[in-house]
Amino acid sequence: MPTSQSTVQLINHLDRDYLRHALEHDVRTGLTATPKWLPPKWFYDEAGSDLFSRITRLPEYYPTRRELAILRARAGELAAASGADTLVELGSGTSEKTVLLLDALTAAGTLRAYTPVDVDAVTLAAASERLTGRYPGLAVQAVCADFERHLGLLPRTGRRMVAFLGGTIGNLDPDAREVFLKEVRDGLRPGDTFLLGADLVKDRGRLVAAYDDAAGVTAAFNRNVLRVLNRQLAAAFDPDAFEHVALYDERNDWIEMRLRASRAMRVPIDALGLVVDFAEGEEMRTEISAKFRPDGLRGELAAAGFTVRHWHTDPAGDFALLLAEA
Ligand code: SAH
Ligand code: TRP
Repeated sequence: MPTSQSTVQLINHLDRDYLRHALEHDVRTGLTATPKWLPPKWFYDEAGSDLFSRITRLPEYYPTRRELAILRARAGELAAASGADTLVELGSGTSEKTVLLLDALTAAGTLRAYTPVDVDAVTLAAASERLTGRYPGLAVQAVCADFERHLGLLPRTGRRMVAFLGGTIGNLDPDAREVFLKEVRDGLRPGDTFLLGADLVKDRGRLVAAYDDAAGVTAAFNRNVLRVLNRQLAAAFDPDAFEHVALYDERNDWIEMRLRASRAMRVPIDALGLVVDFAEGEEMRTEISAKFRPDGLRGELAAAGFTVRHWHTDPAGDFALLLAEA
């Protein structure tokens, strides 16, 4: 019997020193600003990734199911159009939906390598192991990296499809998004493609519910960032003293996630030699999740130098999945 051995390789650009330095910098910058804020990538330690997986299964959280429905209907067409032998996925997480793309690229007969990229090394390694079991012959080259900083370090061989699913594009603020899209675009060669999943503007009630579920999973996810700070930076946050806030900003078309101090607090962050004061009711921003209008998103992609070749939505028009070329 012929054996085609699949292999896993894990490259880590986020060693302890780097992570530490980046976290210290972000926390010092965000928590000494007015109003206070924290960047969302620090949500995703192992516990944070587990909570996010639970979010994707909540009745209120429609994006995962919608994107999955589009992939079920269109993965074959998108795989064939891409002709990709290498799938690079940014913010891959558990790579659950990715299986549909990998199946389609396998069926198209082109697939050779998969490079999942994520800041959470534990979830990344687990997903990589699972996929090598499922796809004999596939070279899984996992990269633990920050997609806002390390795109230049990703493998550049093969005919690539760079996938960015889950609406994670919306977690970048507009300036960061512009920089990010240009960097993705500059990393592509002729024939490479960019597969982007983006959540669309819709009824505000449904949007808010998706980020403020009845079971409180999103609230736990939001507060998890404080546990990360307690552990990594010897901070003394009482997560239970912060309330989860999700609101829709109609002017910016984005969901804003905040943590609101339920009482006045003085929080030492020992590793930074910093003490942060919170007033009762003070809110700090922990994340935005932008919702897109088709024309706006097409415009941003065009400005970055992309041409959109395929644009698909689910039947309800909730979510968009598009394939663009450089
Ligand atoms: N693609 C999956 C997961 C989306 S959640 C899905 O569609 O369900 C966002 C993922 O991006 C998480 O796994 C998180 O760890 C990762 N992530 C967030 N910021 C990141 C960054 N700056 N660089 C790399 N990965 C990041
Ligand atoms: N990319 C996801 C989104 O914007 C991330 C996410 C879902 C999230 N729910 C969250 C981030 C709650 C922070 C808090 O939909």
